[in-house]
Amino acid sequence: MPEDGGVSRNDVGDTTDAGASRARNDESGLEAEGPRRPVTVVGAGLTGASWAGLFAAAGLEVRLQDVDEKRLTAAVDRAGAAARFLVENGLADATAAERGIGLLTATTELAEAVADAVHVQECVREDLALKRRLFAAADRAAPSDALVCTSSSGLSISEIQTAAAHHPERCLAAHPYNPPHLVPLVELAPGRLTTPDALTRAAAFFAGVGKEPVTLTHDLPGYIANRLSAALWREAVDLVLRGVATVEDVDTAVRCGPGLRWAAMGPHLLYDLGGGEEGIRGHMEHLAASKEGMLRDLATWTAFPAEAAETLDAGLVREKAGRGYAELTAERDSLLVSFMRARHRLRR
Ligand SMILES: NC(=O)c1ccc[n+]([C@@H]2O[C@H](COP(=O)([O-])OP(=O)(O)OC[C@H]3O[C@@H](n4cnc5c(N)ncnc54)[C@H](O)[C@@H]3O)[C@@H](O)[C@H]2O)c1
Repeated sequence: MPEDGGVSRNDVGDTTDAGASRARNDESGLEAEGPRRPVTVVGAGLTGASWAGLFAAAGLEVRLQDVDEKRLTAAVDRAGAAARFLVENGLADATAAERGIGLLTATTELAEAVADAVHVQECVREDLALKRRLFAAADRAAPSDALVCTSSSGLSISEIQTAAAHHPERCLAAHPYNPPHLVPLVELAPGRLTTPDALTRAAAFFAGVGKEPVTLTHDLPGYIANRLSAALWREAVDLVLRGVATVEDVDTAVRCGPGLRWAAMGPHLLYDLGGGEEGIRGHMEHLAASKEGMLRDLATWTAFPAEAAETLDAGLVREKAGRGYAELTAERDSLLVSFMRARHRLRR
């Protein structure tokens, strides 16, 4: 354990270099060999199994914990499958992943699961009282330097962390974008009692397992990504409800236009490029007035119109054209893998 109580290189273990950028960088606190402390995933549902797959693919020892034995068994299988998926697609190193998969364990006992852990990733359902109970228990049983993170999409880490009576300062939100084993984003947000050191250590930990962490200065509903998604989706729904375009055409407009560009660069950098040599200042000067005209015309409602679900569903039936859930998720994941591999190649 480092003197500052941070995540040492030996604590989280080796990760891979497959696909070039997964794993190691100077800030990550990782190195090739050495003793490793386990990572605990509390709640073995959709999100927990996916996190476990990512951590296992990085060669870490993962302990899954849940109160439901059946879910635990299924989650170990799903985590192994997720780790193998990353290997098969060149996004994780086979040797590291086999080590991680071999070390995956499951238990219903929280105290056992978090003993010696370097990192606890809570993934139980969205229920403040439940998350507070688990943070209190994890805080009692985990080593005092372990980071304790919630995956919560909508609850406040400030409200959760006060249940951790001993060390609330090491508690933070680490919100993944679904599916966590594949989409690189993780949004880190402090609660009122979180220390900057905990945020720094968390960022290094997640970078070390191949994520691209962003750090908020404070806890905010929806963090960054879901707020932006909500803003875009409101207008997308509104365009359909106003009869301006079909569900399919709105999806195509996003997918083939800004969405494709956003996979390459964020909106600020793209608009900077859009200003040519004059950059963002030139862009603002030339286009602010027309953008402001659009802003005045955008939807502003804060409750979904009653007819939204039915109208969208009818449009989606046409867009899906008989393709089922499994086919569509496979297509989505295959494209995501292609984008990520292309990005890794570019950065090599
Ligand atoms: N599903 C997503 O797309 C997504 C994306 C980002 C973040 N999240 C967040 O992840 C968290 C989990 O969501 P999910 O969709 O994976 O839920 P889920 O329902 O799939 O899984 C929740 C799991 O928690 C377990 N659980 C319940 N009580 C428990 C207890 N006392 N101790 C241990 N385990 C317990 C359940 O048995 C279940 O396996 C939520 O906070 C959610 O906001 C979800």
